[in-house]
Amino acid sequence: MSFPRQRFRRLRAHETLRRMVRETIFSTEDLIYPLFLKEGAEGKTEISSMPGVYHHSLDTLSVELEEVTALGIPAVLLFGLPRVKDEMGSEAYSPHGIVQRGVKAIKASFPNLMVITDICLCAYTSHGHCGIIRNGRVDNDQTLGILQEIALSHAAAGADMVAPSDMMDGRVGVLRTALDSNGYGELPLMSYAAKYASHFYGPFREAADSSPRFGDRKSYQMDPANAQEALREIALDIEEGADIIMVKPALAYLDIIFRAKQTFGHPLAAFSVSGEYAMVKAAAMRDMLEEKNIIMEILQSIKRAGADLIITYCAKEAAEVLREQ
Ligand code: PBG
Ligand code: ZN
Repeated sequence: MSFPRQRFRRLRAHETLRRMVRETIFSTEDLIYPLFLKEGAEGKTEISSMPGVYHHSLDTLSVELEEVTALGIPAVLLFGLPRVKDEMGSEAYSPHGIVQRGVKAIKASFPNLMVITDICLCAYTSHGHCGIIRNGRVDNDQTLGILQEIALSHAAAGADMVAPSDMMDGRVGVLRTALDSNGYGELPLMSYAAKYASHFYGPFREAADSSPRFGDRKSYQMDPANAQEALREIALDIEEGADIIMVKPALAYLDIIFRAKQTFGHPLAAFSVSGEYAMVKAAAMRDMLEEKNIIMEILQSIKRAGADLIITYCAKEAAEVLREQ
């Protein structure tokens, strides 16, 4: 008989059966919610390019975290905006810095919430670069020492995991060494391993006030054209001791996520960045797209590509949908 024996529609006929054969399941446990802590802020202020995302003071943070934990979101990723910036980004490793104080406050009130801290200099330096400037260039090896100071100060404050996002060569190794030799051998490290020089970071740079005042980040972040190089970056970070590797951005880099998972089988996070969030919100606000369904489809595609964890500004919306299901 020429008629097909295989009919795919048999398994698509009923919702229960569709659920039973579904290949990709993602849950609230997979989500990490980024938060911006602003030193000296009073109350919270919405970030104009990221509707629904705020600069928080330590006071409004606890209200936000009540909501986050009630939704079952297991982890947050903290970014800080210091009151003062300088050439060396010294507020980034101050024991009284905004992130260090924030971590302490969060761990005191929400001991079960996983607090991850972003390690970088760009929000803390007067020039806005992710490293120390020497002779007009970002000096890789001088930056490494400062990154170690930042990591140790976050660890001392009680962070549950540190996440270097600077893209200096060798940082994972030196951070691992610094943590291990200071009694933080058990502290996990999530590396922004394949981080591209992406225009999707635009809204974040407003949010973190971290635009470079001159030049761009192309001398340290990856060329969006390169995929093989991402695998070499990731291989090296694993060798240097990264517990979780990350690909960033997510939606325009699903091929990188896929290859990273296939090649290494290492715990893998994907960062669905500020520009991805802004696109969805902008379209939804004009009724061009149906927000919640779009968010779920995007997150599912990131998971399907191979991510174990997803860092997303849509974590609360997604958790709400998952709770209703
Ligand atoms: C800082 C940092 C950036 C992001 C995370 N950490 C911006 C950048 O590298 O310019 C981007 C996050 C986002 O766009 O949501 N190194
Ligand atoms: Zn940076």
